[in-house]
Amino acid sequence: MDIRVYKNEQEIGEAAGKIYVDYINANPSCVLGFATGATPVPTYTYMAEQCKAGNVSFKDVKTFNLDEYCDLPKEHKNSFYMFMYDNLFSKVDLKPENIDFLNGNADPEAESERYRKSIEDKGGIDIQLLGIGRNGHIAFNEPADEFSGEAYKIKLTESTIEANSIYFDDIPMPRYAMTMGIGSIMKARKIIFIATGAAKAQAVRDMIKGEVTPKCPASILQTHPDVTVFLDEAAASLLD
Ligand code: PGA
Repeated sequence: MDIRVYKNEQEIGEAAGKIYVDYINANPSCVLGFATGATPVPTYTYMAEQCKAGNVSFKDVKTFNLDEYCDLPKEHKNSFYMFMYDNLFSKVDLKPENIDFLNGNADPEAESERYRKSIEDKGGIDIQLLGIGRNGHIAFNEPADEFSGEAYKIKLTESTIEANSIYFDDIPMPRYAMTMGIGSIMKARKIIFIATGAAKAQAVRDMIKGEVTPKCPASILQTHPDVTVFLDEAAASLLD
């Protein structure tokens, strides 16, 4: 793992965002895997600014996203699709037909196979962006007895519900989600991992220094050949 520590999330957004801009300029029809949550927002902001300035175009880029809530309309303000629309899709020149998203309201098995095939048909994901949950989850792969494979429907843990409930002010937060599995995430050619804030410090330590175990799903990244880890000082505070 290539571990880089920055002063704050703005610096990370710029550094990680620059990797994307350079990659897209060198590979205009690349396939990108995106993530939701507060952590990647500065990276999306940087990409949107660069697109607006004419320094990069997303017109041939294809995208996938890690996960989506079940039992929530795609147009609800808290869906992950709307999060991506607000923070990136509406601000860059991506073509709607090049955006693929897990459907949390479809039959889980059929949707898993549709998504797997869609990724495969587009040549696989070139760069997958990842954050981490306080419990070590990546996407919605919660601590478990085994590493998961392709996309599947998961019951969210109390820790995740507590962390994400703050965003739901009109309806209760969904209890289930469709998520890319660990197997599908590990197929990405390159991973950009970002964690910020002291609340992530223990999970980051377990991911980098702990044993590789499904009890800390992010620990599997120790076995991926190309992971760049972006941390702020708080998230890196428990590393030596
Ligand atoms: P966050 O979520 O960026 O909102 O902290 C990350 C995650 O749970 O994977």
